[in-house]
Amino acid sequence: MKLTAVYPGTFDPITNGHLDIISRGETLFDRIIVAILRNPEKDPLFSLDERVAILRAVVGKRPAVAVEVFDGLLVEFARARGAQVIVRGLRALSDFEYEFQMTQMNQRLEPGIQTVFMMPSETYSYVSSRLVKEVARLGGDVGGLVPPDVATRLKRRFAAPASHRMESR
Ligand code: PNS
Repeated sequence: MKLTAVYPGTFDPITNGHLDIISRGETLFDRIIVAILRNPEKDPLFSLDERVAILRAVVGKRPAVAVEVFDGLLVEFARARGAQVIVRGLRALSDFEYEFQMTQMNQRLEPGIQTVFMMPSETYSYVSSRLVKEVARLGGDVGGLVPPDVATRLKRRFAAPASHRMESR
């Protein structure tokens, strides 16, 4: 049986921690669909189109990886794609409660889809999209924590006057 996994998230922006999880997923699953949530409650820095373009540029050439956008319930998207697994990355204990609640809810909604957690390399155990944005906004170096294209985009975004930062939302 071919195993398909959905790796959902906001990816605002994708970090090397996310990439690490995708690479680990490639060793376990026949197909991984990186699924970008269309309408997160969070107000994203990068527009949906930018996040799709970044992800396609970064992982688009990997034969087992696809990039898609979803809205509505994650389990419905996963079911529609024939996925048996939802993949989530788990860094520290602080991630646990949120992930626990989501997993239990998803299990209630769709008991046939299993959530699998993977831990990134310790190199990325403290890396989050939120912190990366904060450091970049304050002029810090995020090289090595995000793909080079993302580092360039962050630099460009935060070099612009604040009034221009909203343009792609
Ligand atoms: O990268 P994030 O922001 O932690 O990802 C959160 C995400 C996209 C996995 C989560 O918000 C989600 O699955 N949203 C879809 C709505 C849904 O299915 N909600 C009910 C289950 S918790």
